[in-house]
Amino acid sequence: MTPPRSDAFVFFGASGDLAFKKIFPALQAMIHRDGMDTPIIGVARSGWTVEQLCDRARDSIEHHGGVDDAAFQKMCSLMRYVDGDYNDPQTYAKIKTALGDAKSPLHYLAIPPSMFGPVVHGLAAAHCTEDARVIVEKPFGRDLASARALNATLHEVFPEHSIFRIDHYLGKEAVQNLLYFRFANSFLEPLWNRDHVDCVQITMAENFGVEGRGAFYEEVGTIRDVVQNHLLQVLALLVMDAPVGRDNESMDAAKLQLLRAIRPLRAKDVVRGQFNGYRNEAGVAADSQVETFVAMRLSIDTWRWAGVPFYIRAGKSLPVTTTEVRVDLKAPPVDIFDRNSRDDDNYFRFRLGPEVVISTGARVKKPGAAMRGESIELIARHQSNREKSPYERLLSDAMMGDTGLFTRDDCVEAAWRVVDDAIVHAQPVHLYEPATWGPQAASDVLTKGDVWHDPKAEATPPC
Ligand code: BG6
Repeated sequence: MTPPRSDAFVFFGASGDLAFKKIFPALQAMIHRDGMDTPIIGVARSGWTVEQLCDRARDSIEHHGGVDDAAFQKMCSLMRYVDGDYNDPQTYAKIKTALGDAKSPLHYLAIPPSMFGPVVHGLAAAHCTEDARVIVEKPFGRDLASARALNATLHEVFPEHSIFRIDHYLGKEAVQNLLYFRFANSFLEPLWNRDHVDCVQITMAENFGVEGRGAFYEEVGTIRDVVQNHLLQVLALLVMDAPVGRDNESMDAAKLQLLRAIRPLRAKDVVRGQFNGYRNEAGVAADSQVETFVAMRLSIDTWRWAGVPFYIRAGKSLPVTTTEVRVDLKAPPVDIFDRNSRDDDNYFRFRLGPEVVISTGARVKKPGAAMRGESIELIARHQSNREKSPYERLLSDAMMGDTGLFTRDDCVEAAWRVVDDAIVHAQPVHLYEPATWGPQAASDVLTKGDVWHDPKAEATPPC
């Protein structure tokens, strides 16, 4: 049976950063593309009016994608604003009134996790949760114990199928294509194992710092901000076994099995870095030990992957902005032609952003008498600006009750289990200069002579 569409969209944190950067632009797009026609209720503690909320929405959309006059006007006509403290029962009474006839609202908690409990209980006490859904933002907790506690809190009010833990990487076309490319082609599967794969590297580089989010970042750090969620999800989709079906449950089961097989990180498998200058950011402690960079080596204890190193590197203030996955294949067993061919000429490369590229590295013969070769790449590129943004995709799915691109309770806990010990027993950070690939010590996590492959700016295709 198709679940009913949510008939109201309530978002907490309406005056916040996330609403400004992602939620208003996504709502305008949902109105433009799908004719979304439900009340949109912004909730915040800013003492605003609905007119101020609309002004904020216009400002947001002007900065992020541009205003579509018709859709924007409709959005303002659908918008209501509820002002109030999240600990005050009156706030929820006002939300109930603003909901009017709506029977199955979607509540989006774009607020810190510490407020999830008071908000879901406030909503429940005001009878706003029957047949409702809830979206919760990342990071989902601070560690395994707090994630379990948050799950328990949410389950007091919402059944699991009504909870949508958002990870915008799962809404990215390129990340969905990882899964599609793997299981819609037959040539990859025979290679996708310890017999043929030498190592896997995932790099998420950003060439900017914390951009005024110092106070937020102090509470989080790179492991919690992007590894526990985005990058472990990418890893799971890249190397999990084939699901037994395309339904959400089968996908989650395959992902969960993989996440549970990742050996929990030990502090010695992790190098944390911090860029010089981070401690001068507003909201950052003068002696902060929060990482803005991390390099790590993971192991997956399955018959398919035992012995293959999985390297993850992520950081702020690096030389480029890009997220790239590289699967290095083993070198041919005997070097018949080129003495100097390198071990890492055969690989698959998945660029997940900002461009979307899938490529495979190979060697071909150079023209001439000698049997000498060169490294080349076979490249498939995909670019379209008509696609939904990750937030538009995910909010639309949540309105329809489709949990497929959201993270289930057991998967989120399995991902925390991987990083938990490394967070608790973290070693001191190594400083690095902005616009470099992190501290020298990042190489300490590499084994068997492996080197980091630094993603380069993607060449533009010839016209
Ligand atoms: C967010 C992190 O989840 O992802 C940010 O909080 C990071 O720190 C961002 O910059 C990166 O997302 P994207 O889609 O630009 O790769």
